[in-house]
Amino acid sequence: MHVEPVGVGLGGHSRESEARVPVVRRGGPDTSHGIILYVEGLTVSFDGFKALDDLNLYIEDGELRCVIGPNGAGKTTFMDVVTGKTRPDAGTVFFGQTVDLTRLTETQIAQAGIGRKFQTPTVFEHHSVFENLELALRGNKGVWHSLFARLSGEERDRIEEVLEIVGLTESVHARAGLLSHGQKQWLEIGMLLVQDPRVLLLDEPVAGMTSRETERTAELLTSLAGERTVVVVEHDMEFVRTISRRVTVLHEGRVLAEGSMEAVQNDPRVIEVYLGG
Ligand SMILES: Nc1ncnc2c1ncn2[C@@H]1O[C@H](COP(=O)(O)OP(=O)(O)OP(=O)(O)O)[C@@H](O)[C@H]1O
Ligand SMILES: [Mg+2]
Repeated sequence: MHVEPVGVGLGGHSRESEARVPVVRRGGPDTSHGIILYVEGLTVSFDGFKALDDLNLYIEDGELRCVIGPNGAGKTTFMDVVTGKTRPDAGTVFFGQTVDLTRLTETQIAQAGIGRKFQTPTVFEHHSVFENLELALRGNKGVWHSLFARLSGEERDRIEEVLEIVGLTESVHARAGLLSHGQKQWLEIGMLLVQDPRVLLLDEPVAGMTSRETERTAELLTSLAGERTVVVVEHDMEFVRTISRRVTVLHEGRVLAEGSMEAVQNDPRVIEVYLGG
């Protein structure tokens, strides 16, 4: 497909490019064709080994997409490229019609509205749940400013709303380090939500969770989709079955199959490389 590369020139670390990014943010990405992420021809090599090999993938605005596949299939690498952590050798990732994320820095991509959760929770253990959300809301202004500058009423409302969404209202004053593993994961999702992202990328969000916590996470992610686009990488097939609409199976850096969970789990190629074992 053809897209006008308006994002060209936004890359690098120049002041000008940093200053221009909020323009992307204010109007949001152009999703007039219904697609929010266009991944095309994406190739990432590590010492000649192709972790992504001409990957093509399209994610609709508001979708809840599950990405599954065997270890080493390239799932995390895919998220690394979308978030600017890894630069591809070839290919593009358009955020809407006009912004090529491969030309933006990690910070610019986050500011443009793409939030990412890594597998291990990275909350500030010594701060309270509220303070963690406050720090995330203030983002780049620094810890000192975040903890001592007063929140506006609007910011306070936003934090309270997010506490409600992630089910941590009653733990608002608890020290993050004392939360259960599942609660820490929810707090981290909350820390993304206060920044109001359009796209949320979650890498193995239910790993290590109890079954009750996994169920609650399924409800949470399902409730977030629609208004936001949610992309989930998981190995927990029970969980994927619960939340899935469209499922993409990656294998050797490419899309092996895509469709409903039922369709992909009955696909002989998928059974052979992943689900059969
Ligand atoms: N920084 C790196 N240097 C070298 N090889 C890497 C690097 N990052 C990833 N790889 C390799 O690229 C391939 C894809 O890795 P990736 O982490 O994307 O897989 P994955 O699908 O997320 O697997 P898992 O389900 O185990 O998390 C693997 O073979 C991995 O060893
Ligand atoms: Mg991974």
